[in-house]
Amino acid sequence: MGTLGVQVKNLAVKILDKVMFRNEGAVASKKREVLKVYPVLPHGELKEVLSNIWFVTGQVKMPMLFPPMKGSRSMTVIKNPANGELTLINSIRLNEEGLKHLEKIGKVAHILRIAAFHGRDDAFYRERYGAKVYALKGQVYTREMMNPPTDPDFGFMQPDVWLREGDLPPVPNGKLKWFISCTVPESILVLKQDGGVLVAGDSLQNSASADQYHNWAAKLMMGKFGFFKPFNVGPGWIQFGKPKLSDVRSILDLEFEHVLPGHGAAVIGGAKEKFRPILEGEIKGCHA
Ligand SMILES: [Fe+2]
Repeated sequence: MGTLGVQVKNLAVKILDKVMFRNEGAVASKKREVLKVYPVLPHGELKEVLSNIWFVTGQVKMPMLFPPMKGSRSMTVIKNPANGELTLINSIRLNEEGLKHLEKIGKVAHILRIAAFHGRDDAFYRERYGAKVYALKGQVYTREMMNPPTDPDFGFMQPDVWLREGDLPPVPNGKLKWFISCTVPESILVLKQDGGVLVAGDSLQNSASADQYHNWAAKLMMGKFGFFKPFNVGPGWIQFGKPKLSDVRSILDLEFEHVLPGHGAAVIGGAKEKFRPILEGEIKGCHA
């Protein structure tokens, strides 16, 4: 791309950034939101990536009105072999064919929200299957982007179970690693199997490039802000969740071989060494 092309691209990003993230004051919204079950969006096929663990990537429509931003997200499904119950993490509403596949795998029983900025499709699974929704204490189900309510009661739904630090998730051999310095509740699900599995929300991501689910606006904006990079730490999470550098780096204290991120492809094998450079290096925008 020539100099003029780069200048035009930078200007477009600047304008979009102003339009999308305009700050209208720092007062948290006090508007009680109405429950919304979101329609199904395009997605791929559920694939078993590790024993009793499935993974699927699909589209997400981001909450800003203009420009319409469509990105990519990934869901992890874990089966408890003792009772056939499934736990969905970073839930994505599947189409009817996808749901049939899911039902063949097991009983949709639990929805676990680990990420501060996810949860859009949790209500669908509760409504369709009567699944129990677990969220981290303090997480708000909201559509507000700039000044979201801080009181979960103002959200569009509330979970069935609030998990506090130290509480066990509804997954065999699992525990939650909380990012205690984060301004909004975010954690990683740590599974003791196959050398260690991390299921991440927005903290660890692995989108080497845009995929078929990103639209033009997402490609432009997310490319500019450093989202398209393999073995990455989520730039949006750093910016809006504000975790401390030491807290982010403490991921390396965990034992793991695999990472199933909330955005991007599954990292099967050698994951700790693949994420080590970003975690030990300078993480743009992250404070000590
Ligand atoms: Fe996300």
